[in-house]
Amino acid sequence: MLAKVFSGTTIGLDGVLIEVEVDVAGRGFPTVTIVGLPSKAVDEAKERVRTAIVNTSFEMPDSRITVNLAPADIPKVGSSFDLPIAVGVLAASGLVNKELLASSVFIGELSLEGKLRKIPGVISVAMMARAKKIKNIFLPIENAKEAALIDNLQIFPLYSLSDLVLHLNTIKLISQYEPVSIEDIASTALSAFDFADVKGQEHAKRALEIAAAGFHNVHLKGPPGTGKTMLSRAFPSILPPMTREEMLEVSRIFSVAGLLSQENLVTYRPYRSPHHTTSRIGLIGGGTNPTPGEITLAHRGVLFLDEFPEFPRSVLESLRQPIEDGMVTISRASGSLTFPSRFLLLAASNPCPCGYLGHPKRHCRCMPGSILRYKKRLSGPILDRIDLHVDVFPIDEAKLTEISDGEKSEDVRVRVIKARKRQHARFTNTKLVANGEMQNTDIKKFCHLTPEAIELLKQAISRLSLSARSYFKIIKVAQTIADLSEKNEIEVSFVAEALQYRAKEE
Ligand SMILES: Nc1ncnc2c1ncn2[C@@H]1O[C@H](COP(=O)(O)OP(=O)(O)OP(=O)(O)O)[C@@H](O)[C@H]1O
Ligand SMILES: [Mg+2]
Repeated sequence: MLAKVFSGTTIGLDGVLIEVEVDVAGRGFPTVTIVGLPSKAVDEAKERVRTAIVNTSFEMPDSRITVNLAPADIPKVGSSFDLPIAVGVLAASGLVNKELLASSVFIGELSLEGKLRKIPGVISVAMMARAKKIKNIFLPIENAKEAALIDNLQIFPLYSLSDLVLHLNTIKLISQYEPVSIEDIASTALSAFDFADVKGQEHAKRALEIAAAGFHNVHLKGPPGTGKTMLSRAFPSILPPMTREEMLEVSRIFSVAGLLSQENLVTYRPYRSPHHTTSRIGLIGGGTNPTPGEITLAHRGVLFLDEFPEFPRSVLESLRQPIEDGMVTISRASGSLTFPSRFLLLAASNPCPCGYLGHPKRHCRCMPGSILRYKKRLSGPILDRIDLHVDVFPIDEAKLTEISDGEKSEDVRVRVIKARKRQHARFTNTKLVANGEMQNTDIKKFCHLTPEAIELLKQAISRLSLSARSYFKIIKVAQTIADLSEKNEIEVSFVAEALQYRAKEE
């Protein structure tokens, strides 16, 4: 007898429908054959399914079983086909009712005793099921919450294979999982530091506030021990909350990467800080079965690259396209894949290898050649994609204790959220989320400068010989400053402040 069961897998971040056909032939040598481009893990499903069925007190049919995973040209990886294969075997043997099969998707890994185990990529598969108008999804109980983000889908959480058999045979029904309202669970990241913990450094804090409000890339540069790492670690505490769409987008990425935490959702902006020894694939994504890299895991959040010049130049160069486009294209044998990568780049560096170049009290011990080589590691095009360049100056250690506590992160965050709201209003009906994402045409359309502000910009162009790119970057930053000041026009003082954050030639 033949049975057909629906399941799903992911290609990149997209879910695809897989039909699992199982034929249980009456006669022949008892074997199980899986066809349709299965990977090793899928082929091993035979043994897990056989043992799980036996341990669920059914008899594994003593016949020739053929499992076909269609379409055949899509590679099948992972262990999530265990459940649909088991259901197919039971249905083809007449042990479970086939009635619900046409309107359901089944995914999940089986343990030898027939319990269900968590699998990656559930949000993508659930989205696919909804798009294909399939009503029900049966999945491991630990994956239920992430699937519940997708509305118009009936979610049946499974603890074991026997629960499912009892449900399909309408002996004991499983209760559906309640939909999750994403707004109820939005939260702020727990960051290691509060802005109030960092003494002084008002200039750097202001730059970070602008960065958070307008989603601008930032580069903090200064001698050792000035608090660059500390400021960067405090940065998540001033970021605005994610919107519903953003949480879904980011949770889907983490789901595919198999990194969803116990809460099963990413409710605050990701903050990724890969070490400079991270490989190119680790950072950009890829591999034989491409998985998202750090830049995709940082989507809608922050990619913090501490000790920026220590990253190999080739790795930094590969960031250029993703920064520009907000996505990364990964080529593989069977065509290319894209992953989203709209992250905020937060970079920190020293001015030279010893760190003390330009320090008011300490001498720099570097050879001129080594300073040059150090600077060269950061290519022009990368620095050119950073809107805010900030010098972090040393504070006199004796004075550290005298400086009173700064403003708390939660107060800064209130202003950031207000500025974001103004941007949302401005960008309705566009794909833009924040000022940092504006292209030149958007800048021309959305940014209005006062005549004095235009005059100052003109002077700056001729005196500081600014490039066209810097010109637009200054307007973008000035727009965020205007949003923070709750002003509709870009005034002359906003341009003056924005000019301070340009990259200074040394
Ligand atoms: N402004 C500050 N307020 C309070 N503590 C500070 C400040 N600056 C530095 N510190 C103290 O100094 C330590 C070192 O700071 P941090 O690691 O942030 O420096 P850094 O600029 O990243 O240095 P490096 O260039 O060596 O990485 C911090 O853990 C903190 O205890
Ligand atoms: Mg540091």
